[in-house]
Amino acid sequence: ERSSNVQTRPPVVTIMGHVDHGKTSLLDKIRETKVATGEAGGITQHIGAYHVKTDRGVITFLDTPGHAAFSAMRSRGAQATDIVVLVVAADDGMMPQTAEAIDHARAAGTPIIVAINKMDKPSADPDRVLNELTTKEVVSEDWGGDTPMARISAKTGDGIDELLELIGLQAELMELEAPLDGSAQGVVIESRLEKGRGPVVSVLVKKGTLKQGDLVLAGEYYGKVRAMTDEHGQRIKSAGPSIPVEILGLPETPAAGSEFLVVTDEKKAREVADFRTNRERERQLERQNKMRLENMFDQMEQGDVSTLNIVLKTDVRGSLEALLAALNELSTDEVKVRVISSGVGPISESDVTLAESSEAVLLGFNVRADATARRKADVANIDIRYYSVIYGLIDDVKAAMSGMLA
Ligand code: GTP
Ligand code: NA
Ligand code: MG
Repeated sequence: ERSSNVQTRPPVVTIMGHVDHGKTSLLDKIRETKVATGEAGGITQHIGAYHVKTDRGVITFLDTPGHAAFSAMRSRGAQATDIVVLVVAADDGMMPQTAEAIDHARAAGTPIIVAINKMDKPSADPDRVLNELTTKEVVSEDWGGDTPMARISAKTGDGIDELLELIGLQAELMELEAPLDGSAQGVVIESRLEKGRGPVVSVLVKKGTLKQGDLVLAGEYYGKVRAMTDEHGQRIKSAGPSIPVEILGLPETPAAGSEFLVVTDEKKAREVADFRTNRERERQLERQNKMRLENMFDQMEQGDVSTLNIVLKTDVRGSLEALLAALNELSTDEVKVRVISSGVGPISESDVTLAESSEAVLLGFNVRADATARRKADVANIDIRYYSVIYGLIDDVKAAMSGMLA
């Protein structure tokens, strides 16, 4: 016997697929807004969440970024997700990140619906896409398999109603339910520091109802929800299952993918938060020690290893993690890339001091230096580099590395 407040909840859908196959354009077409054109370099930089009303009810979408550097975020995206919509461009076919998305969805046990996109293009070849997908055992219902597929154009809108219909049907099959009452639980989609507002945390409620004034524990932090806004920036007082909201009131930015829950006992919240903070610190120390050891070994083995030190600041935790993962891959036998300090928020005076003392390059991703930091950098003759596209930052670091060899 299930409790009476358990109700059908909207499906949470994550759009996945290869770079530029049309994930954001598809969401835009569904929402009839224009996110893609406003994005720096046309690349999605962090996970956004939106819910839309369709003929079959509400659907919540998570837009995940397409670049390989974001695979860490994407794997977490799949965990908050009921259904994966895999976007494959009909003129490009299955690509590495298409295959990777299939693996992520499988690992999370999430059903896939394929959207074969860009059908408006003369070079579109949907049969080739179907063929290629069978090599990953993703077989269309038309071909005797069990994967629903829609042929769409995010440009003209063709086939999108059918896609929404397939999502609605899949959701009905899954009988998605959640208690509407009771204290909320869910997952952090993204968090960032905003001038004048402080930490802004996007969360997706999975159970119960989140209310203004609730005491929330998210990752290593806790705080009272001071204000809540929906994805359009409208103030709201409460949010039920599958609804994404932004909350203010946490003292710091918890990592994307962290679980959150509403607690009643502030003392307990502090205990758990302290415990997690200590654990996080220990892990960080362990990592640093390991790195130091590895560097020592490298130097003993090779004698003349160069190290490129980096101080990195970013706008959100998601981009920070993605950049750290990408930078981590760049080290070679000749040049090690070492991020000596990183964090979310504007470049501060202490970042400049650190860069100066460790001869590090100072990089800002979608953030600027504050006035004090700029003055200090001028005096110390330190070059601060700003980026809004991941590729740009990575390319520059690569160039700096080869410069060290020359
Ligand atoms: P990332 O987030 O960078 O991985 O890209 P994405 O998958 O979100 O792709 P995006 O929506 O940015 O689209 C990439 C390019 O393809 C843009 O120039 C779009 O205008 C174009 N595009 C997307 N969908 C269609 C379509 O259905 N038809 C045509 N002709 N072009 C499309
Ligand atoms: Na793009
Ligand atoms: Mg995109």
